[in-house]
Amino acid sequence: MIIAFANRSYRHTLGLLSTLMLGVSAAWAGGEMNLAAWRLPPVSYPKDNPYSEAKAELGKVLFFDPRINREGVSCAQCHHPGMNWSNDQARAQIAGQILPRHTPSLINVAYNRSFFWDGRADTLEDCIKQHFNGMDISPDARDTVARIRLIKGYAPLFRKAFGKEAITEDTIAKALATFVRGITVTDTPFDRWVQGDEHAISDSAKRGFALFTGKAGCVKCHAPPFFSDFAFHQTGTNSIDPGRAEVTGRKEDRNAFRTPQLRQVAETAPYMHTGQKNSLAEVLRFYQNGGDVRGQSLQLRAFDLSEQESRDLIAFLRALSGPPIRIQVPILPRAY
Ligand code: HEC
Ligand code: HEC
Repeated sequence: MIIAFANRSYRHTLGLLSTLMLGVSAAWAGGEMNLAAWRLPPVSYPKDNPYSEAKAELGKVLFFDPRINREGVSCAQCHHPGMNWSNDQARAQIAGQILPRHTPSLINVAYNRSFFWDGRADTLEDCIKQHFNGMDISPDARDTVARIRLIKGYAPLFRKAFGKEAITEDTIAKALATFVRGITVTDTPFDRWVQGDEHAISDSAKRGFALFTGKAGCVKCHAPPFFSDFAFHQTGTNSIDPGRAEVTGRKEDRNAFRTPQLRQVAETAPYMHTGQKNSLAEVLRFYQNGGDVRGQSLQLRAFDLSEQESRDLIAFLRALSGPPIRIQVPILPRAY
């Protein structure tokens, strides 16, 4: 089935690590990297929350509105559009309190199969509701709903988006989710390369891709086409966060987190669930050592990279960035 573009398929020597890569066999055929496997599908919208322009527009207004919670903090203040929908704090902060985890970027979140670093929400709508119900962002959803109902200017926007349906936790989350699903980066140099433009990325980046899919073993988890298998792994980041174990109750899942997607990753430092890595070079050193704590990760093993190889791998990761998404900050609805 694979290699429709024989001239574009990437010849690769299968080394020791090939055994680790059985999980991504769809991307391989007899030692050839199938570049077409990396092409992103279009974003799909769930049946119970199909796309509409009115919903996306309403979601955008809600996203920027600091009045939707007691602390006066909008989604955009943590997931900052000018900072690639994340921010530069290691861990998220609200009302003088430091939350346990780093604010993830919202770019390409539409493709995720679970939400939050530990995957505790199954849908984007549910993830957004959990923001109202906890995370110290809002005391509970009723508070957010009541605040939005009080802002007179929202009534016509909700009518346009949802007809007779009222302003509820459900409709608020649906509108926000519709907006968030539109935050995508799909046209990066890498994406142009896998679509056949040989000159879209540098030779250094191409060598970096060979390392990513070869000796460095990254593709085992950062799998095509999303650069994530959406599974949970212990990479041995030094933190006491139980991670996935809190969701499943299984000891084996201690300190496991969902593999993040990597498009736009060069722009979203700091990295990891704790935001403890400040640059891609630091992340690479982490992987070369097989984790922060040697031997702690059963799924990583240390490997060596020359300086040139590190530069190549970083050049490749940089080729995953498209231009920043520019959006017009909306005018907020009037209160009275
Ligand atoms: C105080 C900062 C803060 C605010 C405000 C905030 N978030 Fe978040 N958001 C976070 C953090 C931190 C996480 C990760 C939490 C975790 O994994 O436990 C997160 C996770 C998410 C995720 C999941 C991303 C993924 O990769 O799984 C989505 C989607 C999201 N937020 C959307 C929103 C929306 C929509 C709003 C506004 C209603 C919002 N956030 C407001 C800090 C914030
Ligand atoms: C065993 C699975 C696995 C392998 C192999 C792996 N990663 Fe990761 N990667 C993860 C997980 C899980 C995280 C999140 C860990 C955390 O937050 O503690 C992550 C995080 C990252 C991040 C930070 C992303 C962000 O938004 O914070 C980068 C960059 C990254 N990996 C690149 C790589 C590179 C480059 C390689 C190869 C050298 C690699 N990964 C190998 C699973 C893996």
